[in-house]
Amino acid sequence: MIAVAALLTVSCGDDTGFTVDGEVDSASAYLRRCGGCHGAAGTEQAATSLAGVKTGSESDVRAKIVDGSSTMPAFGGQVDPAEIDAIVEYVMENFS
Ligand code: HEC
Repeated sequence: MIAVAALLTVSCGDDTGFTVDGEVDSASAYLRRCGGCHGAAGTEQAATSLAGVKTGSESDVRAKIVDGSSTMPAFGGQVDPAEIDAIVEYVMENFS
């Protein structure tokens, strides 16, 4: 039971970030915040494929996440800056 409770605590967490030992778990953060629209591989669902991010710089990706667009929610001000950093890095490493 203790193991199950610990597992639930880790996987649910709170909604302020996805930190493990003080480090943001970028894969979890990406999946939770972005995966619903862009998919785990960045190429699924209703949204634009993140494979196209190839042409975007890191600052373009960051601006998109912070400011959003007509169809994409703005995450700036809602998401911890450390988590945004981790997601930007995750997108650049995995989808560019
Ligand atoms: C509600 C659905 C939704 C969510 C959640 C969402 N996006 Fe998007 N995203 C879109 C749509 C739709 C587009 C394409 C239209 C546009 O650019 O405005 C897009 C475009 C983008 C682009 C530009 C792609 C390109 O090649 O121009 C990036 C980068 C991006 N999203 C990253 C993210 C990241 C990172 C997250 C999580 C923090 C995220 N998105 C969450 C819907 C979403």
